[in-house]
Formats: sequence, structure tokens, C-alpha cells
Amino acid sequence: MSKIVRAHTNIALIKYWGKKNHELKIPWNSSLSLTLDQFYTDTKVEYDESLLGDEFYLDNKRVEGKSAERVFWFMDQIRNRYGIKSYAKIESWNHVPEAAGLASSASAFCALAKAATLDLNLSDEEISRLSRLGSGSASRSVYSDFVVWDKGHDDETSFAHPLDVPKWDDFRMVVAIVNSDEKPFSSSYAMNKTSEDSVYFPAWVEQSQVDLDAIIEGIKEQDIYTVGPIVQENALRMHASLMAVNMWYFEPKTIEVMNIVRKLQTKIPVYFTMDAGPNVKIITTEAYLEELQDALKDYETVTCSSGPGAYVL
Ligand code: PMV
Repeated sequence: MSKIVRAHTNIALIKYWGKKNHELKIPWNSSLSLTLDQFYTDTKVEYDESLLGDEFYLDNKRVEGKSAERVFWFMDQIRNRYGIKSYAKIESWNHVPEAAGLASSASAFCALAKAATLDLNLSDEEISRLSRLGSGSASRSVYSDFVVWDKGHDDETSFAHPLDVPKWDDFRMVVAIVNSDEKPFSSSYAMNKTSEDSVYFPAWVEQSQVDLDAIIEGIKEQDIYTVGPIVQENALRMHASLMAVNMWYFEPKTIEVMNIVRKLQTKIPVYFTMDAGPNVKIITTEAYLEELQDALKDYETVTCSSGPGAYVL
């Protein structure tokens, strides 16, 4: 009986945006994320010598086409790396709205990387590298709390590690779900186009290192007034680099929430970030949570704290 692996999503506070090496997903810049307690994927992988191909089931339904092919490609990478001969039945249960910028691919590929290699007892570092091949952000879901993905320069050197800081217990992230439909274009397509064609891309890469160094200091101090503005500006810079190639994920309600947060931040420390989708994530600390939730009462929200790394159920 195969075991089920659970991996939680993570949301980047300093974004990964742009790949130097597309196949290996080696990023142009290092990134930093928070693993969340609320959204996760459970995955079970059963190798079976009698199978003539991989089979993928999501929420108990057989999946074919593009989503399944990405999973099968990933399984081929695992088989090649570790000399596994059989195909597998892969079952996943997603507790994340899919493809809406809530990082379902992060939890999905991290859970799959660990579940498919359980018998090999790989180190977390190795699972992070492997997860990266499935989806860059998945490399960070191996670990709990704040996580840094060092960009590195090749497969060996590009992996994530936990940020070595005291636990920030009262840090919170409120996810405002303004639309959980599938996004108009994938993060991969959008970031590739940005890195190839956006005149702002070199500035993005340069500034993200400055942001990363500064935010680490703020997290060490548990200073939301330092961390918050860096998070918000880093996200806006990522989206600005994307807008310069005529693409955006913002919807009217995204902007509405951004405006509410910006108004509120003249009084209390609340700051937004967005990913490859229209939903807005707002960071604050426990003391300001009620006021934030009250300001967002007309929206569907989920309040998150930091969550665990990937583990066997
Ligand atoms: O891992 P991907 O290919 O889904 O890319 C994630 C990109 C962002 O979510 C926008 C940023 C990040 O660092 O997670």
C-alpha cells in the first residue's frame, strides 16, 4: 500500500519570474516564500509493472491531455534519474483552487516529487531540486515557514532551503479569492515572454536581489513595516515587467482589493502581493487581522499562517 504525501502551497514574497534554463527551470533570480497552512495537495504514487503507461487521477477523476502530459513528463524525469522501470498510477487530491495564482502547481509537484521517490529516501535538498523540474515554485514547498530558493546556476546548485530565522508566530497572510477560474495564460508562458521581450526584465532581475537581501533583514527582526513595502513593491515590479509585454493578470476586483489595502496601509501595516492570477494575498500581523478582515468583508477570504513542509500522512 503506497503512502500519501501532503505538500502545502507557498506564496512568494520575493517572486521567481524568469528562467535562464527552461528545461531545468534554473531561474534568473533567487526568491523567498512563505509556506501556507491552508492550501495543500495530497498525492499517492503506485508503481505497477503491468501498466503500459502512467495514469493520473485528480480528485478521483482520470485526467488526460495537457495537464496529464506535464505529469507524465515529470515522471519520465524521475524514472531517468533514478533508473525506475515501471509506469505508475498517480492519484492527487487538491485542496487548492487550481490555476488561479494560488500556487497549486507548487504543492502538486512537490507532493508528486516526494511521493514518487519515497522508497529512495532522498534528502530534502534533492526533493527540492526534483520538485523544481516540475514547477519552479514547487522547489520551495519542501520546507515550512520562510524559504529561500537560491537561483544557483545548474541542476546541482539550484534548490531551496529554509530561512534560518526564529519562527514569526504572528505573521499572517489573507488570501482574497476574487476569481478562482482558470487563468488566461500560464505562469510559464508569461514569464518566458517577459524574460525574452520585456525591456524592464534586466531591471527586475537586478532589483530582486536588492529586495531579497533587504527582506531577509526585516524577517530576522520580525518587522512588518520593513517586510511589507518590499513585498508589495516586488510584486508590482514583477507585474510591471509583464505588463511591458502586453499581459496582465489583474481583474477589476484585483484592483479593488489593492486599493482597499493601499488605503488601509496609511493606518495599519497591511501589504499586498499577487502571482500569476487575479487573486490578492495580503500580509499583516495578528494584531491587525480583524481590521483587515473587516475591510475585506465583501470578498471571499482565507486567512493563513505559516504551514509545514512536505510530509507523509
Ligand atoms: O512555479 P511556477 O512556474 O508556477 O511560477 C510561479 C511564479 C509566481 O507564482 C508568479 C512567483 C513565485 O515565485 O511563486
